[in-house]
Amino acid sequence: MSARGHAFGIDIGGSGVKGAAVDLATGELVHERIKIPTPHPSTPQAVADAVAKLVREAAWDGPVGITLPSVVLDGVARTAANIDKAWIGTDARALFSDALDGRPVTVLNDADAAGLAEDRYGAAKNFAGLVLLLTFGTGIGSALIYHGTLVPNTELGHLEIGGMEIEHRAAASIKDRDELTYPQWAAQVSTVLVGLENLFWPKIIVAGGGISRDADQWIPLLTNRTPVLPAHLRNTAGIVGAAMAIEAGLVT
Ligand code: BGC
Repeated sequence: MSARGHAFGIDIGGSGVKGAAVDLATGELVHERIKIPTPHPSTPQAVADAVAKLVREAAWDGPVGITLPSVVLDGVARTAANIDKAWIGTDARALFSDALDGRPVTVLNDADAAGLAEDRYGAAKNFAGLVLLLTFGTGIGSALIYHGTLVPNTELGHLEIGGMEIEHRAAASIKDRDELTYPQWAAQVSTVLVGLENLFWPKIIVAGGGISRDADQWIPLLTNRTPVLPAHLRNTAGIVGAAMAIEAGLVT
């Protein structure tokens, strides 16, 4: 199966490998997303086998876009956050393509994919100008998009603000680890956002990651200047952005 106007995206995270065909006219999934638990250890070959299984299950025979929680340059993973360190230096594009009978594959950073999807179909779709997307999860992922064009691999989660990497200050996992209330955590997020907006001056900031589901509990508490909007696509943003990337032939 592979239909006109549809593209297939897969989002690889610490807990699940999730994928579906996407209708690129609407940004909606064509069928319910398929989820396979991320293998442990999440070595490149084990994850590639899970990807091949998922694509077989979907009976998809076309090209595939795939995200990794990594810096990805020319298909090669250069970092590995929340997946096995063996990914560093792995030619992920070649690995996945081999696992999928040599078909074309595009690989990109997970937050970059989410940013592309929110920019075209989601929270940022009606905004002209610079959009900054941040995903709050185990770490903080970032995507910078200007009029539909992505600046790939920004890795702002590792930027130091106030002497601390921002993902160590304000990832959703920090809220859990330190048992912070929403007001306490929102104060940390505000510090991070003020630092970022003073450097990048985005028109809007889109907040993604699982914690964006509770946006009404913390976004109103933020004290930074730039409007912050909760992500719309929630747990499909990575899949949709990966599908956009393969359609566009994106190379980062
Ligand atoms: C990684 C990024 C990734 C983000 C979200 C960060 O720790 O460095 O590459 O996008 O986590 O998964």
